[in-house]
Amino acid sequence: MTRLLNPIFFSFLYISFIYTLSVNATTLQSDIQVLEVIKTSIDPVSISTDSFLSSWDFNLDPCEMTGTSFLGILCTIPLDTNTTSRIMEIYLEGDELEEFLTPSIGNLTELVSVNLGRNKFRGLPETITNLKKLTSLQLCENYFSGSLINGIGVLRKLEVLDSLTQLDLSNNELTGEIPQLNGLWQLSSFDLSNNQIYGNLPQFPLKIRTLSLGHNLLSGHITPVNKLRHLRTLDLSDNRFSGGIDKRIFMLPDISHVNVSANRFTTLEVVEFSDKGSQLHMLDVHGNRLCGHLPVNLITYPNLTEINLGHNLFSGEIPAEFWRRLAFLWRSLNLEYNYLEGSVPKEVNRTSEGVRGSFVHNCLTCPKGLQLCHGQRPASDCVGRNRGGDLS
Ligand SMILES: *[C@@H]1O[C@H](CO)[C@@H](O)[C@H](O)[C@H]1NC(C)=O
Ligand SMILES: *[C@@H]1O[C@H](CO)[C@@H](O)[C@H](O)[C@H]1NC(C)=O
Ligand SMILES: *[C@@H]1O[C@H](CO)[C@@H](O)[C@H](O)[C@H]1NC(C)=O
Ligand SMILES: *[C@@H]1O[C@H](CO)[C@@H](O)[C@H](O)[C@H]1NC(C)=O
Ligand SMILES: *[C@@H]1O[C@H](CO)[C@@H](O)[C@H](O)[C@H]1NC(C)=O
Repeated sequence: MTRLLNPIFFSFLYISFIYTLSVNATTLQSDIQVLEVIKTSIDPVSISTDSFLSSWDFNLDPCEMTGTSFLGILCTIPLDTNTTSRIMEIYLEGDELEEFLTPSIGNLTELVSVNLGRNKFRGLPETITNLKKLTSLQLCENYFSGSLINGIGVLRKLEVLDSLTQLDLSNNELTGEIPQLNGLWQLSSFDLSNNQIYGNLPQFPLKIRTLSLGHNLLSGHITPVNKLRHLRTLDLSDNRFSGGIDKRIFMLPDISHVNVSANRFTTLEVVEFSDKGSQLHMLDVHGNRLCGHLPVNLITYPNLTEINLGHNLFSGEIPAEFWRRLAFLWRSLNLEYNYLEGSVPKEVNRTSEGVRGSFVHNCLTCPKGLQLCHGQRPASDCVGRNRGGDLS
């Protein structure tokens, strides 16, 4: 029962505990009715015995319960003895629940967080728009399908929930283009990865910190991302984006992880970092069509430790500064499957022990016994490419 270790469960225990000690109020009657409807509307065959839902026992009061009944529910703490508790969070992740989410969920108007990830739900009832206090909605790995905006599109519905800060729709079967998310102006984490979303990027809400759009069919330039001043984590991997990876991305003050691998980018622009602090830790641009010399300015990013430039068309020599960084700062450097030339210094053998990475399949001359380098391109592949940068 690894799921018992989840933090929501513990906070649930904790809050119920405080609250049973201090007051003796019970759950608002109509909230209990909604929970009953939620349970009865789900195919009982799909409710496994170790799921949170199977612990809901309506002979007991949901918010009064501690321990093993009513798992996956968090209640508000009543202000005085006369007020009742309301349901504040519902956490039913990974319960394999089937098909149908009751429209009654819209009556739980104090809900702040709903996690229905990793189930088999197919749609959202219209009443979800009544949940005006919702800040977090996790619907990853379900069977949501259809266009994001047309008809009963899931984003069209959610647009009115302007308190939402976290929205996870990853691993569904959603399609269509991403609309302007004007209504969701508070959004800080947005995950649409692993769907079939296509089209260009819209302007995103400016508070976004985490943007995950990997494994879709998105295309065009990624310039809208350059404006997201609060961005920390960007994952645009495995799409059809093209054009340049702009220097402005790396100048965003909080940017830490950038994964734009497996696209069709042709240029990578990295300017010398002169400002006081940079949070950039990870850069993964592997599997694009980047050409020219390796971006030597990467060495000016003080916190950068994990770099993947593999599977591109880079040529020319590996900058000497890269080897020095590799000796004491960089933990991982992947340059495999490019057209890099020149000699790999012998000292790399000594420093390479703690280093992850690869230099294979280039046009390099490697010291004997250096596994990271073993297996270069045949000379015929390298002819005409070894004047560094002549591809750009
Ligand atoms: C939800 O609210 C509607 C409208 O007030 C009401 O008709 C319905 O009975 C409620 N459902 C539940 C399960 O409480
Ligand atoms: C609780 O309700 C009773 C009766 O309605 C009232 O007399 C009392 O003042 C209320 N107490 C609080 C703390 O509001
Ligand atoms: C970047 O994304 C790709 C594809 O999703 C993934 O395979 C890779 O591990 C990611 N890179 C890093 C450093 O996490
Ligand atoms: C590196 O990141 C840390 C926080 O992760 C930050 O405090 C520090 O200023 C950064 N270092 C530099 C030199 O930018
Ligand atoms: C480093 O070089 C020595 C010989 O100088 C060799 O025995 C050893 O296998 C090499 N180590 C690695 C990690 O390539």
